[in-house]
Amino acid sequence: MRALITGVSGQDGSYLAELLLSKGYEVFGIVRRSSSETHERLTHIRDKIELIHADLLDQVSLSQALKRARPDEVYNLAAQSFVPTSWTQPVLTAEFTAVGVSRMLEAVRDVAPNAKFYQASSSEMFGKVLETPQRENTPFYPRSPYGVAKVYGHFITVNYRESYNLFAVSGILFNHESPRRGFEFVTRKITDGVARIKLGLAKELRLGNLDAKRDWGFAGDYVRAMWMMLQQPKPDDYVIATGVAHTVREFADKAFQSVGLKYQDFVVSDPAFYRPAEVDLLLGDATKAQKNLGWKPEVSFDQMIQIMVEADVRRLQDTVNRR
Ligand code: GDD
Repeated sequence: MRALITGVSGQDGSYLAELLLSKGYEVFGIVRRSSSETHERLTHIRDKIELIHADLLDQVSLSQALKRARPDEVYNLAAQSFVPTSWTQPVLTAEFTAVGVSRMLEAVRDVAPNAKFYQASSSEMFGKVLETPQRENTPFYPRSPYGVAKVYGHFITVNYRESYNLFAVSGILFNHESPRRGFEFVTRKITDGVARIKLGLAKELRLGNLDAKRDWGFAGDYVRAMWMMLQQPKPDDYVIATGVAHTVREFADKAFQSVGLKYQDFVVSDPAFYRPAEVDLLLGDATKAQKNLGWKPEVSFDQMIQIMVEADVRRLQDTVNRR
């Protein structure tokens, strides 16, 4: 089996590449050319996968990538994925996160119409939620240019399935985290902050809205669900979530506690990190995925925080030791 992953250098891309390699796949990944190509998350598997230069903004490059990879499965994980940036760069976000999906689907339809297609959809589409918990048929009410772009990506995937009979699925994934999470997202910002404070490298941690609630799972569990969706007899859409929500405050509380500190002594709520429109609560119901895919999360909320804090402490300790 051959798989092509867009966004392979990101958190989910790297976990998915590992999973597919362990299943004996030949893995191809799309990366954008840059003058400083590091792909840190891929270092340990760099010689086992083939990277192809292409860009979601460049239709021809996507077709060329598909011709090179000749994939049985295509995972579209690339996007402008940081919600706050979608207010400062709304048009670019739409180009990558919305129209980029059309470009990918057009390339698949043209070059690899028998390939199965996975679209990384997001719980951000539920936004100002119209029901709780959110499931596959909950109406969308996105609250950011990012959320709006993801709704486009979701429906264009459904539309290509219905228009052209492509095996195209949309996975509506709730927040999922790991030690490979980017530092700008709140969980990683917290675990990195906790490690810095513990090691005496920082004195405080400035966050935004501590009352926002999210359904946080472990990224390694979530990429397994992506693969499972493509092994089904029929293409369909699935919510992937743990079914438990916590506030940002609770996350911070547990993360600080895990190194014997109190978050109240270090966390400052700074209006600079508030969003123009907030998503107050996301809580998913993954019953359909449990029933049809046999999927369930394996790493708990507490375990995940522990793993993330320990990884950040280790990483920063190494840096300190090298000085
Ligand atoms: N980033 C960030 N930084 N968020 C903060 C902070 C802070 O300092 N303080 C509070 N928050 C709150 C945000 O306001 C938001 O309500 C919540 O923490 C989570 O923010 P993020 O971790 O940035 O994630 P997100 O929920 O906006 O989006 C993530 O999950 C989506 C799935 O629901 C991203 O991974 C998206 O790409 C993904 O689609």
